Amino acid sequence: MKNIIEKELAVLEQIDIKNSEEIEQIRIKYLGKKGILSDLFAQFKNVPNEQKREMGLLLNDFKTRVENKIAMLKENMENVDSKSVDFDDLTKPATLFTLGSRHPLSIVRNEIIEIFSHIGYSVAEGPEIEDDRHVFSALNFPPEHPARDMQDTFFIENRTDNNHAVLRTHTSSVQVRVMERQKPPIRIVAPGRVFRNEAISARAHCIFHQIEGLYIDKNVSFADLKQSLLYFAKEMFGEQTQIRLRPSYFPFTEPSAEMDVSCNLCGGKGCNICKGTGWLEIMGCGMIDPNVLEASGIDSKVYSGFAFGMGIERIAMLKYDIKDLRLYFENDLRFLKQFSSAF
Ligand code: PHE
Repeated sequence: MKNIIEKELAVLEQIDIKNSEEIEQIRIKYLGKKGILSDLFAQFKNVPNEQKREMGLLLNDFKTRVENKIAMLKENMENVDSKSVDFDDLTKPATLFTLGSRHPLSIVRNEIIEIFSHIGYSVAEGPEIEDDRHVFSALNFPPEHPARDMQDTFFIENRTDNNHAVLRTHTSSVQVRVMERQKPPIRIVAPGRVFRNEAISARAHCIFHQIEGLYIDKNVSFADLKQSLLYFAKEMFGEQTQIRLRPSYFPFTEPSAEMDVSCNLCGGKGCNICKGTGWLEIMGCGMIDPNVLEASGIDSKVYSGFAFGMGIERIAMLKYDIKDLRLYFENDLRFLKQFSSAF
């Protein structure tokens, strides 16, 4: 009996079957009513008493092995079956692989950074929670300037010192941070969120995004400012784009200007988007006021520079014909899914 079991175990080892009929035959051969195991159990009563214990253990072990082997064969077969089903029908639709897409503001920000990186600008960042010095006083805002007013600026209360923390109202604060820590030549763009106490509407929001630019070196002139911004406008809006600089005022630049680009949609003839003027205002800019350089330890007799700042929401609105600012912040997938880009 021991011999039979050993021989059958060796046979069992070798079995490798992939279809269910053959597995069923194996089952019948070993576990069926007239199968090998029932035969062996029938012979068990003839085993001499002193061998019963050893034979009993052997026999039960054999039965377990047979059962395990059959279970394993069945499992293998199911795996093979399910694999072959995958290849059965090559016309089946593929499993949907859903990818997210970039937010339009990120696309436009990245595109602007890319354009300026080609003329040597790197990216700088600064904190959103700032102090008065970086947002206002080092930028030549006089103490009574209306932009410091509670109407515009979010102040953070309960600071123990008298230098109130504020949420930055523009990315110009990063100009100051960079000038404090870096010697000229400086050539940076600084993207980021800014905060102003404004009622939310289709045209205004209390949180929005700007990109600041800062260029400081020896002999930087207004012509450099103009040419750099013309290059940017052509890269961003197309080769045919023209720019126009209108005199303006910022405390930290002198002279200051607003820059308009020619309206792409009507080619300058006048339409709804440019309100009939043929021009679209896209940024503020100017030569850095010597007071600003001096406030951050840069010698204004040796160095000069220019700065510019633009709203990312506004540029994305022009680029994608978005009519309502609030769409940027509502996270409605129907809106967000429409944008794809290399940036
Ligand atoms: N900081 C200005 C604003 O928020 C924009 C600006 C930046 C103007 C740099 C001139 C130079 O409107």
